[in-house]
Amino acid sequence: QKDGQLKGRKVIVTAGGTLEPIDPVRYISNRSSGKMGLAFAQAASEAGAEVLLITTSDLPVPFGVEVKRVETAQQMLDAILARYDWADLVVMAAAVADYRFSQPAEQKIKKQAEHQALHLDLVENPDILAQLGAAKTHQYLIGFAAETNDLLAHASEKLKKKHVDMLLANDVSKENIGFGYDTNELLILEPDKSPITLPLASKLELARKILLDVAKKIK
Ligand code: PMT
Repeated sequence: QKDGQLKGRKVIVTAGGTLEPIDPVRYISNRSSGKMGLAFAQAASEAGAEVLLITTSDLPVPFGVEVKRVETAQQMLDAILARYDWADLVVMAAAVADYRFSQPAEQKIKKQAEHQALHLDLVENPDILAQLGAAKTHQYLIGFAAETNDLLAHASEKLKKKHVDMLLANDVSKENIGFGYDTNELLILEPDKSPITLPLASKLELARKILLDVAKKIK
């Protein structure tokens, strides 16, 4: 067994944007690359944890990390629930689509007659993090908030509503922060504590710093 601050701990990390199919050849998704989640998977593994990475991303996975590849929010939810009892810590870095198509077409949708709009119906996806928050037994739960405005207000609301132990908020409207970059800046929120900002650094450095702190909390 590896040594480190998270030795013997079981960690689930999610990464990447979910893909929600329109038909067999098309989908909607978002700009998440999976880098933030991968950084947490690597940092947790380095710290001695057993890590399950549930990801939509094709990026190479750090050595020693178990990986489960998924596409949709529903598949991500099923994959987490199958192992939720096992986990001591869950990091929800994935960008989960809030909506999916109500009925993905079985055949490729044909182009409409000229100048005709195409209307597709969206229905709500499960809120994975909120479900994990409600079903929590011994797990320490870390959620994210990706915001383009009123970072603190929106993130504080998600912290409460989803019953997480720690919420990491990023202002994705800014350069070098959030989607796609190798760097990030995170505002850390915890229940009944003042927010702390971790200034711009590589995603890996941030993940290492946060997990060092979390390891002390779950001792
Ligand atoms: O992947 P990268 O390119 O490295 O980019 C990193 C990131 C910007 C994707 C990451 O830092 C980040 O912010 N991830 C969360 C993105 C997101 O979905 O944020 P949200 O504010 O919409 O959701 C809040 C939280 O609820 C998140 O932990 C999310 O995983 C979760 N959620 C959201 C919707 C949903 N239906 N189910 C969920 O579990």
